[in-house]
Amino acid sequence: VALLTLLDLHLWLLDGLNLHSLLLKDLLSRIPCGCYFSTSSQRSSDFYTDPTEAVKDIPDGATILVGGFGLCGIPENLINSLLKTGVKGLTAVSNNAGVDNFGLGLLLQTKQIKRMISSYVGENVEFERQYLSGELEVELTPQVQEFNGRQYIMEKAITGDFALIKAWKADRAGNIVFRKTARNFNQPMCKAAKTTIVEVEEVVDVGTFAAEDIHIPSIYVQRVFQGDSYEKRIEKRTVKKVQEQQPKPKKDSDIVRERIIRRAALEFEDGMYANLGIGIPMLASNFIKPDITVHLQSENGILGLIPILWSELCVGKETVTVLPGAAYFSSDESFAMIRGGHINLTMLGAMQVSKYGDLANWMIPGKMVKGMGGAMDLVASAGTKVVVTMEHSAKGGKHKILDKCSLPLTGKQCVDRIITEKAVFDVDKTKGLTLIEVWEGLTPDDIKACTGTHFEVSPKLRPMQQI
Ligand SMILES: *[C@@H]1O[C@H](CO)[C@@H](O)[C@H](O)[C@H]1NC(C)=O
Repeated sequence: VALLTLLDLHLWLLDGLNLHSLLLKDLLSRIPCGCYFSTSSQRSSDFYTDPTEAVKDIPDGATILVGGFGLCGIPENLINSLLKTGVKGLTAVSNNAGVDNFGLGLLLQTKQIKRMISSYVGENVEFERQYLSGELEVELTPQVQEFNGRQYIMEKAITGDFALIKAWKADRAGNIVFRKTARNFNQPMCKAAKTTIVEVEEVVDVGTFAAEDIHIPSIYVQRVFQGDSYEKRIEKRTVKKVQEQQPKPKKDSDIVRERIIRRAALEFEDGMYANLGIGIPMLASNFIKPDITVHLQSENGILGLIPILWSELCVGKETVTVLPGAAYFSSDESFAMIRGGHINLTMLGAMQVSKYGDLANWMIPGKMVKGMGGAMDLVASAGTKVVVTMEHSAKGGKHKILDKCSLPLTGKQCVDRIITEKAVFDVDKTKGLTLIEVWEGLTPDDIKACTGTHFEVSPKLRPMQQI
């Protein structure tokens, strides 16, 4: 179970299908037993009224597993209590570190964290600064082994001394349910620590939720604390605009983006399951034709959403609307979908792409680090079409489409198509690039002049399509 859990925290070149489905079966066969036993009236968990009491024995140097996804479903009170206890030298395992002034970011500010095991740095400026200056250790150390001709990651399970978890409700026996996307890393982390401390919004009588609806049986739960006045911050709140009085004049960069978005939207086909990166790919979904259905998957645990943007619900980074028939699940389940090859289309941005489809999109050494998030798993997954959307050249005209990437790779020979504001290329993993569309007014020679590698021109070259 721990291994299954923790594969999700390290996202590297792999197609974990075999390993993963085996473990998933194992996991699924265990949970029902746990639920059955945990409904007995015998209490296995201790209940606390003061969160600081619940964490005061966490010693310096401990490894803590912290649930949540940035700001979504984080144990706000337990994190704040660690500020009070002043514990130092922590190794913190968490998908990311929230933002500078909330979530785990608070413990980074106070330098109480010595080492982070994470996959995404994202919007946390202090995390990026400490990592690039060498003040903070960040763990990304995979070993790769080959099975049946494909490379798989082999890793030690990540376990913790303590897990700090945010859930919705606990019953008095210590069984736990989560709300909406807050299952994310909270659910698997409950099972991977010696002592699991759960903060909940409500403690209810046994039987209030049915035994078959329990997400975490009490066997995994040592301490429960009922918190109040949750801030539940949203990292990026977007609300639907009522009406634009005067459409703003478009900047050049907006025109470029819109061109890419309107081309990218043509990649959606009826019935597809798709995972979209932040930015242009997400925006492309606003242009999905009304007569087709596309199921969007969000890595932290939703299937069936539209990213246009009422308010209400937090998916870690952006606000979305969840459609009827949608499902919520934990991050390990999400990666079972991804690694198992069930996602038809992955669309994401890039800093560099090579002619054979190598992709670099997570860091510029010494300068900038975003983290790969789920991208390494997404692009390594067999059967998933990988479409890169990006501006043709970097600032200052530096090439992004190259013979060979110079930045650390996200995936090797994984990109199937590149869409820029000037051109569309198909990528063959052994033969290289073919130009299939070009923006009107431009010629293949113009594209050659701004591309850092050779490409073939399709005999069926056509003007760049737009939705
Ligand atoms: C999506 O992938 C599944 C296989 O996982 C396949 O059966 C299905 O036809 C694909 N759908 C589309 C629209 O590409």
